[in-house]
Amino acid sequence: MRILVVGSGGREHALCWAIAASPLCDALFCAPGNPGIAAEASCVALAATDVPGIVAFCKAEKIDFVVVGPEQPLVGGLVDRLEEAGIAAFGPTAAAAALEGSKGFTKDFCARHAIPTAAYRRFADADAAKEYVATQRLPIVVKADGLAAGKGVTIAQTIAKANAAIDEAMVGQRFGSAGAELVIEEFLEGEEASFFALVDGSFALPLASAQDHKQVGDGDTGPNTGGMGAYSPAPCLTPAITDEVMARMIRPTVAGMAAEGRPFKGILYAGLMLTAEGPKLIEYNTRFGDPECQVLMLRLKSDILPALIAARDGTLKNLDLRWRDDTALCVVLAAKGYPGEPLRGTEIKGLGAATAGDQSVQIFHAGTREENGRILADGGRVIGVAALGTDAATAQGKAYATVDRIDWPDGFCRRDIGWRAIGRGG
Ligand code: AMP
Ligand code: GLY
Repeated sequence: MRILVVGSGGREHALCWAIAASPLCDALFCAPGNPGIAAEASCVALAATDVPGIVAFCKAEKIDFVVVGPEQPLVGGLVDRLEEAGIAAFGPTAAAAALEGSKGFTKDFCARHAIPTAAYRRFADADAAKEYVATQRLPIVVKADGLAAGKGVTIAQTIAKANAAIDEAMVGQRFGSAGAELVIEEFLEGEEASFFALVDGSFALPLASAQDHKQVGDGDTGPNTGGMGAYSPAPCLTPAITDEVMARMIRPTVAGMAAEGRPFKGILYAGLMLTAEGPKLIEYNTRFGDPECQVLMLRLKSDILPALIAARDGTLKNLDLRWRDDTALCVVLAAKGYPGEPLRGTEIKGLGAATAGDQSVQIFHAGTREENGRILADGGRVIGVAALGTDAATAQGKAYATVDRIDWPDGFCRRDIGWRAIGRGG
């Protein structure tokens, strides 16, 4: 088969790495890809959001199957346009990607289908939003409705901060049209975990568990990021909690979306808060997490391609995915300045030799570019170092030993990725 992966981050590098290993894959392309992905796939100079360009490329290159990594093209209807053109594609339609594209849609959907989530209200007017905040308990959570690259959520400890977040979104238009509507919701307390299911429109297959580290600093301090590291399995997602999430969230969501005429296919990623009252949904994403995908791909023993195709074809029911018992752990190297404006163009050396030939360690490129054979930082999250080990401590040791062989004075990473799992003997 001739396959195209859409995207350019660490997630897409991990997907390309897994797909390239499939005996079903005859030719692999990635749009736009990155210098690390270029080792696995032919990179095509098309932006992930260039829907007409990608459709035209697929026709010209006779692509059999497209795997869409990031949320923007999904919400923008890339899968719809590809399927209309007769090209099979993995991922939700725009109508189904509303589970990620509109937080308000998802909250109302959860209310219609009794899916446990934080209490909320939707607002299109700043004054009404402020009046509501004044009556609520603190902290309170203010969220832009649409896609805001992970920056649209404010946890406000004071009414003044909540009001400022409302003004920033609605008056200052910090998130453009994505912030024209807001969701204001109850603050949930507990531990966060990521739950992934592969969905084919009517059937959902849970994937291995994972947990990421959202905050930029050691000890989970500082501002939120897209994820500074991840590991799988996540010991906090016990079999009992997995069953509960499948029964109370994932299956009702899949059934509800089908019943509402928006059948969901692709990856359904539930961001969970494990509260004293049981797991609650923080948000849905409609794609693999990044860097959670990197650790899932390292643990996956089965061929990923038949699974992605079965999700698209609606034949997931008979599929079984097998996972390594080992723990996989990924450390993200970010450019100084992240999650604010990152320093660009600094050189990263020593990537080639950093794994020291150890097959259980993989380096995934996220935000890099190549110039005259040199690898330069070109984004916030730049490199992911992922390792497999018999337990979380072993995987962590291997990952940091590799990180320490990378020569990049202008980058940084957290030094405690996996601390929860290690503390639990995972
Ligand atoms: P989201 O973009 O909705 O995943 O939110 C980003 C982060 O904000 C989450 O990963 C949580 O850490 C935090 N968050 C979002 N909503 C809530 C909530 N209702 N209660 C507590 N924390 C939240
Ligand atoms: N790691 C969080 C995300 O992909 O949204």
